[in-house]
Amino acid sequence: MRGRRAVLLAALLALAGCAERPPGDGPVTLVFKHARILGPADPFPGLLAEFAAAHPGVRVTSESLPWSSDEQHQFYVINLEGRSPGFDVMMLDVIWVPEFARAGWLLDLTDRVRPEELAPHFASTVAAATWAGRVWALPWNMNVGLLYYRADLLAKYGLRPPETWEELEAAVRTIRAGERDPRLEGYLWQGKQYEGMVVNVLEALWANGTRLLGADGAVFPEPARAVEALAHLRGLLATGVSPRWVTAADEELSRRAFGDGRAVFLRNWPYVLDLVEAPGSAVRGRVGLAPLPGRVRGAGAGSTGGSHLGISRGTRHPDLALALVRFLTGERAQRAMATGAALYPTRTALYRDPALVARNRWLPRIHDLMLAGRPRPVTPSYLLLSTTLQPELSAVLVGLKPPARAIADARRRLDYFLASRR
Ligand code: GLC
Repeated sequence: MRGRRAVLLAALLALAGCAERPPGDGPVTLVFKHARILGPADPFPGLLAEFAAAHPGVRVTSESLPWSSDEQHQFYVINLEGRSPGFDVMMLDVIWVPEFARAGWLLDLTDRVRPEELAPHFASTVAAATWAGRVWALPWNMNVGLLYYRADLLAKYGLRPPETWEELEAAVRTIRAGERDPRLEGYLWQGKQYEGMVVNVLEALWANGTRLLGADGAVFPEPARAVEALAHLRGLLATGVSPRWVTAADEELSRRAFGDGRAVFLRNWPYVLDLVEAPGSAVRGRVGLAPLPGRVRGAGAGSTGGSHLGISRGTRHPDLALALVRFLTGERAQRAMATGAALYPTRTALYRDPALVARNRWLPRIHDLMLAGRPRPVTPSYLLLSTTLQPELSAVLVGLKPPARAIADARRRLDYFLASRR
């Protein structure tokens, strides 16, 4: 009888999500899902071993997610629909929190995480971890869209980093005419049909003084400006300022070409800096970074990006999972990630940390660019917005659809979808 009661109690505790250990005293395994590491030395095996050493009887296994944000999202949607997703701690792209919170997939951390604990992170990352006034994740790493340039080439032609679209195009023409190297491309960015392309389009909208969603939720509130922004991107490809293959480029494809010395400019995230400055890089010491150019001076802004760590609501070990999230988003781990994994901290103080700045002199500048970054629309429907837009935007970039028609079609489809969600 007592045995049956104990089993029942254990089952109830497990159902309530508060059993920290499986029945019996066997080891607990926490499963941590995150994207692959691109920096010089993966710090996670060491960090996870350290966490396990401080928590006897706990093992942490880390599992890689697919490469792109879109595929990662798909993985989560498929696995979180079921009751037991098979992972405890999950890396979340900043754009997913409202959707995942509303779907009931994340453990609500509001009552467990004090405001002082969030204060050291960039305010924008805390905002992105919050939905409907509640906290769903802790900020883990931060991104912002930047313009990389070949400082050696700009200096050779007496040029300053471009602040406007026009200056960028003029610089490409001058340098390519002077270099006469058919392998040297102008401006690389991400134009493949995926989330990264949507980011590039949003940045073009902002650079042209408009946005995707108006204050009242209207889609493309200034359609004429949106058309101009798309026409500009298409124009880069049509005139050869950007090579045609940009329409198949993601972050890594464009980063590799720039890193091989095959382009003057590149739009990308901060991780690129660590790779182009690594020993053996063809462009080491020859790269600079600047804010993205605007249609007019001062109008350019990079999109924010990055990721949080959230806890699956189906976890059987919520306290341990939170301890792991705290450890991995903590100062020591973020420092190790900045050094080994090219993942930029969400903790603002690390951008002034003498040891880190000695390694990466750009940190204070990147800090300021992070502060100036703009978020993508914050809505549980973000993925719906993005995936609905993607084919329309892509059709413009490859020259299959005039920008005005794509904007009109996208508005029609989005108005319909968003209305049906209200
Ligand atoms: C980076 C950013 C993420 C963004 C993605 C787009 O991973 O951190 O926020 O959605 O790029 O490709």
